[in-house]
Amino acid sequence: MSTEETLLNLDFDKPNTTTAPPDDGVVSLSSSSEEICLVPEVEFEGNLDSPGVNRESQPLLGGRGDFEVSFNYFPDDPQFSELVLQAETAIDNGIFPERIYQGSSGSYFVKNAGGKIIGVFKPKDEEPYGRLNPKWMKWMHKLCCPCCFGRSCLIPNQGYLSEAGASLVDSKIGLKVVPKTKVVKLVSETFNYLRIDRERSRLKRAITEQFPNLRFNRMGLPPKKGSFQLFVEGYKDADYWLRRFEQEPPPPHVMKKFQLQFERLVVLDYIIRNTDRGNDNWLIKYEAPPGPRADADLRDPSEWSGGWEVRIAAIDNGLAFPFKHPDSWRAYPYHWAWLPHAKLPFSDETKQLVLPLLSDMNFVQELCDELHLLFKQDKGFDKGLFERQMSVMRGQVLNLTQALKDGKSPVQLVQMPCVLVERSKGGSTSSRFFDSFQQRFQQKSPFFSWW
Ligand SMILES: Nc1ncnc2c1ncn2[C@@H]1O[C@H](COP(=O)(O)OP(=O)(O)OP(=O)(O)O)[C@@H](O)[C@H]1O
Ligand SMILES: [Mg+2]
Repeated sequence: MSTEETLLNLDFDKPNTTTAPPDDGVVSLSSSSEEICLVPEVEFEGNLDSPGVNRESQPLLGGRGDFEVSFNYFPDDPQFSELVLQAETAIDNGIFPERIYQGSSGSYFVKNAGGKIIGVFKPKDEEPYGRLNPKWMKWMHKLCCPCCFGRSCLIPNQGYLSEAGASLVDSKIGLKVVPKTKVVKLVSETFNYLRIDRERSRLKRAITEQFPNLRFNRMGLPPKKGSFQLFVEGYKDADYWLRRFEQEPPPPHVMKKFQLQFERLVVLDYIIRNTDRGNDNWLIKYEAPPGPRADADLRDPSEWSGGWEVRIAAIDNGLAFPFKHPDSWRAYPYHWAWLPHAKLPFSDETKQLVLPLLSDMNFVQELCDELHLLFKQDKGFDKGLFERQMSVMRGQVLNLTQALKDGKSPVQLVQMPCVLVERSKGGSTSSRFFDSFQQRFQQKSPFFSWW
């Protein structure tokens, strides 16, 4: 690869990122579907004083021990914790997550006890390249033509972290386009399990029937780790509304609102280098106020206030955070770049929101540190690859800030040469409290590119 290297003067205080405290809020559980243990773990249920408890009605599946409860509890976000608890309660009561039939991975609509959809759960082991992916086409792709279908720039099978990472970036910058997403553990008989897990669950069920005083440590099926995203209501695939907007353009003030939302989507996708932003992977909600509007004078600002809502939700963020820029035969373009909205320069509103944050290298480092805490919980976490992911992200941030300062449009942004901002190994400074960074341009374009 042909590169051009420049030493950047990006020295700044270095927060301690190398050694994470052991107690970082991420609870490591021994109970996982990746373990194979043929003999169920049992222990004696000591409470003989409560013979009236009707064990028949107690869920065998749930088995939410203290570990699961603490794993799914987010002290800084009681509302989200409450939502996950609602999902767990529903599952305990037999209202199971339902597989989303479109899509290439095992994704599930999660419901509350009233049967209302409240979230979308994507288990790690049912991702497109996860070992329990229920959609066999992906398996065929992997087997027959790995170079064409995989994404060689992404760490495989960490889509759930990418989903949660996108949400982290979104809330850190205040974009508010990604429905909140965190890593949780859920168990449900509607998930795809190995036969051995189902056999073990049946065995436990049979033993419990025979010996009601026996209590299993890990009752039923093993919990699955995955991303849990809030379900947003009233939204449709972007494709649907984009077509409608072409035929019946909404009033100008609504289009302005839409443009601001659109720019936030661009900012998100560019920073995380999303490789899967088709127009089916973002949603639009558009609601006109009730009542006849045909005769409304839309030049009158009083007609603008309230009522009209247009919002974007950036879903399906599982194929982002590459550890290198795409340089093979596919470029994974951002499909929004073909829309007319991408030709307008970024607005002052977006610049004011984003520039002060992204031009502050301490802020960018904080973002990297928070992503580190999130990503390192994966069993396959690799510090070197994570550093490379952050080099790509810092490069994207650098381009984006430059584009915003220069008054560029999203189309011009995506045409900028790819850059990596790498942490220098043994930089010129001797102080352990400073890092220096090096910027490297990638000049080799993808073999198959739209530009
Ligand atoms: N947070 C959400 N709120 C509302 N609807 C959602 C949400 N997430 C997903 N959906 C709906 O579920 C559909 C499938 O979701 P998603 O694209 O994330 O799944 P997927 O299995 O990753 O699919 P694929 O891999 O084919 O893109 C979406 O097209 C959308 O209609
Ligand atoms: Mg999708």
